[in-house]
Amino acid sequence: MSLQSIKYSRGSLEILDQLLLPGQSKYLVVRGVEDGWKVINKMQVRGAPAIAIVGCLSLAVEVNPEEFGSKKLLRQEIEGKLNYLVSARPTAVNMKIAADELITLANELDKDENIDVAEMKHRFLSATEAMLKKDIADNRAIGAHGAKAILQGVTEAAGASAGSAGSVRVLTHCNTGSLATAGYGTALGVVRQLAELGKLEHVYCTETRPYNQGARLTAYELVHEKFPATLVLDSMVAALLRAKNVAAVVVGADRVAANGDTANKIGTYQIAVVAKHHGVPFYVAAPLTSIDLAIPSGDHIIIEERPDREMTHVGEHRIAAPGINCWNPAFDVTPASLITGIITERGVFKPAELNAAISKLLES
Ligand code: MRU
Repeated sequence: MSLQSIKYSRGSLEILDQLLLPGQSKYLVVRGVEDGWKVINKMQVRGAPAIAIVGCLSLAVEVNPEEFGSKKLLRQEIEGKLNYLVSARPTAVNMKIAADELITLANELDKDENIDVAEMKHRFLSATEAMLKKDIADNRAIGAHGAKAILQGVTEAAGASAGSAGSVRVLTHCNTGSLATAGYGTALGVVRQLAELGKLEHVYCTETRPYNQGARLTAYELVHEKFPATLVLDSMVAALLRAKNVAAVVVGADRVAANGDTANKIGTYQIAVVAKHHGVPFYVAAPLTSIDLAIPSGDHIIIEERPDREMTHVGEHRIAAPGINCWNPAFDVTPASLITGIITERGVFKPAELNAAISKLLES
């Protein structure tokens, strides 16, 4: 069974259909932007970084065989199609940030009198393709920073005399692994790094109702890696933190506001509340492309609401009483005050430091 969510070579894009996992491992061909929009909207590919990469690559495979009469026509095609792809799912910011970067590039290339339309297309394709490699490198860096922060936190909590931290138990929510990214994962990358360091005693993953990313996808990745892992239901988190000596919670993000408020999979907020109650550090692991400095707080994040059917049915089987009303927000916002640290590829930041630190990094 494959853990590679995205298969790409110039002119060809396939995604692993995550609606079929873990039962079936089947790749879908994405021929262009219409297919890209659909697989993102239907959540056949999901996870903020994977959404952005598949969206941009769907445009790359569409543009690749086309001949454009002028640079202006190519620029208009890039701008229009990327803005359309942003609308497939509203909460994760990664697709919007990637679209803005590529539109800026297309504008610069259009204005550059030294290059022709063929060269402009080649540079656009190369910039899009570079996202795949960068995402894996970023995730490895996130893993290294996150594992270090968790272990340091454990050592500090135990007092200086305790020496270096032993193995730790961690909890994660939703799926932030190879399936949600180009590879390795963000929060799950931190778990992978702990395992690589020989410091992972146990990882707990939540079921993550209603789409069951934890039970279907994270559990699948953890079993594949042969990590010591246990699945818990979303309703068990308080009992788990009370009973199992969990050292840290680490989750992903769909959008982090300038003040550190973080939108992530529904259920994240209540886990953060419970972690605070039990004095368990709560970390958000996300690449810089999930950080939206344009919004001051989480109040400005649009939360996607999904069809009732995801709640009322498991597969084809109806579990809810017919006629009941449903409310199905796909994400919630965890206030910055509940977050210990935001783990990025450039280091770990306290929410209060985030805006200044990231602005500085982006300037340099
Ligand atoms: O609705 P999903 O499955 O796309 O939600 C995924 C999450 O909330 C993840 O935690 C987030 O996108 C980060 S994935 C590295």
